[in-house]
Amino acid sequence: MTDVLYINGRFTTTAERVIGVEDRGFQFGDAVYEVFKFVGKRPVFLSDHYRRMEGGLRAIEIRSPWDEALFTAVMQDLLARTAFDDGIVYIQVTRGEATRAHFYPDDLRPTVVAYSRAFTFPDVAKKERGIRLVTTADLRWKHCDVKSVNLLANALAKKKAQRAGADEVLLIDGGIVREGASASFFVVRDGLVITHPLDEHILPGVVRDRVINLARAADVRVEERPILENELADVDEAFITSTTMGVMPVAAIDGKAMRRGDLTPRLQALLDREEQAS
Ligand code: PDD
Repeated sequence: MTDVLYINGRFTTTAERVIGVEDRGFQFGDAVYEVFKFVGKRPVFLSDHYRRMEGGLRAIEIRSPWDEALFTAVMQDLLARTAFDDGIVYIQVTRGEATRAHFYPDDLRPTVVAYSRAFTFPDVAKKERGIRLVTTADLRWKHCDVKSVNLLANALAKKKAQRAGADEVLLIDGGIVREGASASFFVVRDGLVITHPLDEHILPGVVRDRVINLARAADVRVEERPILENELADVDEAFITSTTMGVMPVAAIDGKAMRRGDLTPRLQALLDREEQAS
């Protein structure tokens, strides 16, 4: 058995084809998702992911299929059935299945899917080397705070990065730097850590929030304000954060090498410690 798939109350594997062709997640992107990390079978920041998913479900009026106790029990069960120790769990809750129509019935039963996947997290060398970004226009929908499965704009942007020999994009919206296609973005200037404020233009990253709190607890000043594209040439450090990348230094933006400093590795170490304690 490789991976484990939970669907609507039962466990199977991803080898089984299980989603109805008229499921609204499939036809309309009418769904939210989460990705959490597990290490040594222990989920990392699980309740942060639960809370964000609940917020997303509420925002698009999908009935929540679980309270936190049931959610946690299902995820623990899924991990216990999983053969490998380290990886990610992808969870998707869709509005459910109905005859295809833009109007949706109010009483649909949500489709609930979660599966484990082995994942190799960045090693020490990669965490030192960092990643390369390219800037591109932010063409996403206008509620980026909802982790919806409408990821076409993100996927097309990311392909652009890959073709340019980079790892991630930096989404620019009218001269403002929003975030990556699958990561939050930070810069450091004169000892001050700066990141986009929480609003509809960015996803409220679980790691973003943890890193802000860790920085403040270590007496590092953090400012949540929009970063302008033309500020990028002038920063001391830049890094991204995400569930899969943790805190990852930015080595270059659009082929231009970024300065490196001490704060990014410091926050990296603080996050690693917090993950182990979670
Ligand atoms: N992506 N911003 C966007 C647009 C994202 O898709 C993600 C996560 C993040 C970072 O969020 P977090 O710290 O909660 O992982 C920011 C996940 C990992 C994905 O789509 O696979």
